[in-house]
Amino acid sequence: MSDLTLDMQQTAQPASAAERTALLQNPAFGRVFTDHMITLRHTKERGWHDWRLEPRQPLALDPATLSLHYALEIFEGLKAYRLPDGGAALFRPDANARRFRASAERMAMPLLPEELFTDSVRALVRTDRAWIPTAEGASLYLRPFMIGTEVALPPKPATEHLFCVIASPVASYFKGGAKGVTLWVSENYTRAAPGGTGAAKCGGNYAASLVAQAEGEREGCEQVVFLDAVERRWVEELGGMNVFFVFDDGALQTPPLTGTILPGITRDSLITLARGMGLTVREEPYAIDQWQADAQSGRLREAFACGTAAVVAPIGHVKGRRHGFVIGNGEAGPVATRLKAALTDIQFGRTSGPQGWLDRLF
Ligand code: PLP
Ligand code: COI
Repeated sequence: MSDLTLDMQQTAQPASAAERTALLQNPAFGRVFTDHMITLRHTKERGWHDWRLEPRQPLALDPATLSLHYALEIFEGLKAYRLPDGGAALFRPDANARRFRASAERMAMPLLPEELFTDSVRALVRTDRAWIPTAEGASLYLRPFMIGTEVALPPKPATEHLFCVIASPVASYFKGGAKGVTLWVSENYTRAAPGGTGAAKCGGNYAASLVAQAEGEREGCEQVVFLDAVERRWVEELGGMNVFFVFDDGALQTPPLTGTILPGITRDSLITLARGMGLTVREEPYAIDQWQADAQSGRLREAFACGTAAVVAPIGHVKGRRHGFVIGNGEAGPVATRLKAALTDIQFGRTSGPQGWLDRLF
């Protein structure tokens, strides 16, 4: 247990109820922010210290701050959900806390104790509870992150770090609703190689994926699907989501966690839920050419992407230099629809899920 106490410095100028209500009308993903943030500092000498809840404000950074030059940054994404009785809960925050430690380890950053992570997120949600949307499917997205703040130019692990949590009310990630998303198969760019940082949630992975995302958008696609860096054959994941396939015998398949993809908490939750429904789930590689052949033969019935921001998003069309195919009728299929309902019913407290998944805040 940590013996730190959180210093609460609430803002004297919160958004007014009218301003907040206007901002909470169908907010675009990550564009609206709440009144407060959490900060916590780490130095080699003092360990974790100066744990604060404070008014949300810009960070002052020296231009030679290590993270600005060498991408010493990791982050997490989780949500607070409004419950039917007016309370609120987080979904599996302990899993995010553990993954944050794993990301920190990969990036040579200090390991944040799990309860400092979860208590920070809980304190921010409790303070900014008025910002948790009540609209159907909307939630409060939490973005914990850490940067190396030492002022130095030699590329090396930082001796000073800042952990910070901000919060953003969000509605749905995609505009299309039940319509399937269109994917661009990235042949020119890969996301992660064996031995690299693919399994870590570090900003650099996303920076490197954006040129592929831009290429996909030029080709009329909404998201990019990445292939493995060695053979350029195996489907890995999207820029910010894991991927599942559903076959005509009812079985599901998703790429295995071999170190180059992010171990998604939604992915893990859906595997548990699907198995609980009696469905077979394989964690096995799937080749892009096989995906096309199976979609064309009808052996593949559905494909969907999943993640905290996107929840469960059916994949409708796949396009690439060497590929072009539609999945089913291009819209949400029954398995994706059923799994999404099962997951969101638990997250919004409409049904009870496995022990410990819902972390009630009030
Ligand atoms: N893969 C990538 C690259 C991601 O950024 C995300 C989103 O966080 C995921 C997968 C899904 O992870 P999770 O379900 O934990 O949000
Ligand atoms: C998330 O789902 O939390 C993500 O991180 C995906 C994307 C917004 C980066």
